[in-house]
Amino acid sequence: MALAQDTRRNLDLDTALAEAEHRYLDANPRSLARHEAAKASLPGGNTRSILHYAPCPLTVIRGAGCRIWSLDGAEYLDFLGEYSAGLYGHSNPAIVAAMTAALEAGVVFGAPNLHEARFAAELCARFPSLERVRFCNSGSEADLMALSLARAVTKRDKILAFEGAYHGGFLIFGHGGSPLNVPFPMVMGRYNDIAATRDQIATHGQDLAAVILEPMLGAGGCIPAAPGFLEMLREETTRHGILLVFDEVITSRLSPGGLQAARGVIPDLTTLGKYLGGGGSFGAFGGRADLMDRFDPAQPDCLFHAGTFNNDVLTMAAGHAGLTEVLSPEVLEALNARGEVLRAALNGLFQAEKLAICASGLGSILSVHFRPGPILAPEDLEGEDPRLKQLFHLAMLERGIYLSPRGMMALSLPMGDSETDALLEAVAGFIEDTRPLLPRA
Ligand SMILES: Cc1ncc(COP(=O)(O)O)c(C=O)c1O
Repeated sequence: MALAQDTRRNLDLDTALAEAEHRYLDANPRSLARHEAAKASLPGGNTRSILHYAPCPLTVIRGAGCRIWSLDGAEYLDFLGEYSAGLYGHSNPAIVAAMTAALEAGVVFGAPNLHEARFAAELCARFPSLERVRFCNSGSEADLMALSLARAVTKRDKILAFEGAYHGGFLIFGHGGSPLNVPFPMVMGRYNDIAATRDQIATHGQDLAAVILEPMLGAGGCIPAAPGFLEMLREETTRHGILLVFDEVITSRLSPGGLQAARGVIPDLTTLGKYLGGGGSFGAFGGRADLMDRFDPAQPDCLFHAGTFNNDVLTMAAGHAGLTEVLSPEVLEALNARGEVLRAALNGLFQAEKLAICASGLGSILSVHFRPGPILAPEDLEGEDPRLKQLFHLAMLERGIYLSPRGMMALSLPMGDSETDALLEAVAGFIEDTRPLLPRA
């Protein structure tokens, strides 16, 4: 492997990183050129912030199954899985057929179509909290709609969310938040801190419209809710007349009925997104009929929910085909079991090497952290050296593994043992080549 000589030269982290960036740029001149040219019309060459990373992102031109190909001609195993939206892999035949048939029959009707209600029925049958659901175009929009609905029906202002959480582009609570956040008055809690959150709800209870959280923090580090945390939130929100909102944009794939079914805690409202659109632009929010029926347009005091592409024919057809023709409960459970095996193997590797590195997550979603495990709360990630993450990311790309710069991975249905074995081999190679630079347990 190219990095082997680095160990012998006993590099420091900054030098190793600079050399890795150099090799990356040498290997990907076309991606670099495209990125530079794109800057003329896109700020920083980018139209989706998360897809930027140093020294420049790869341009991807093709995908098939669980593989993608870059503009520079390299093949990668796609362990990013489009941040969990790529669960079906690339161009699943059932989804391609459904989208092709929809496309051929026309896609901009300006009317209800045949796909939307049957897709909605499928979602309501799967996720216990969904008595009714409405579609939108992204998870960000779904979260905004759910919280706006909560504020409208409770006639209260405040929202309780958790430090480190990500609920889309207008509700960012990690890394110091965002000036673009929606200006709702927020109460910020500490994820998995049962006692402190109970106190906060008691203090602000009369003013809180909703408590929103993911039953496993996704972008916040793949940290599952601690035993008792969700139960406490269910109990306290009910006691104070606050709506409990589960953002299951990512976690809905962690069991056939979402994490709410697996954990046996049913929220008032749920938001969905990503893979459920079958690869189309997608978001959905739903829950108790008495809340969602406020959108019934035949009612005199109804709430108005707009969106030209809310019932986008292509997405509705793709999402429905995915759920009914591909993603049976057994198929989903097998994917999550594969993820459990992979996470255990990664943690076994880190422990055998006596490294303070761990893989967190649940089922088919995992994240590698350069911190000792287990990661039980966002505080456990403090002090992680971002240079190690960047070095890991570039080293994995160099070994043909495509994953997120923050170390998050989402498995896809086309993956088998040979793909997860290849990942393990790549991680072992990375350890071998950079051992002196890695944190010791
Ligand atoms: C938990 C969670 N909620 C909401 C969103 C926003 O979804 P979208 O990117 O479709 O707007 C994301 C996206 O990563 C997410 O992870």
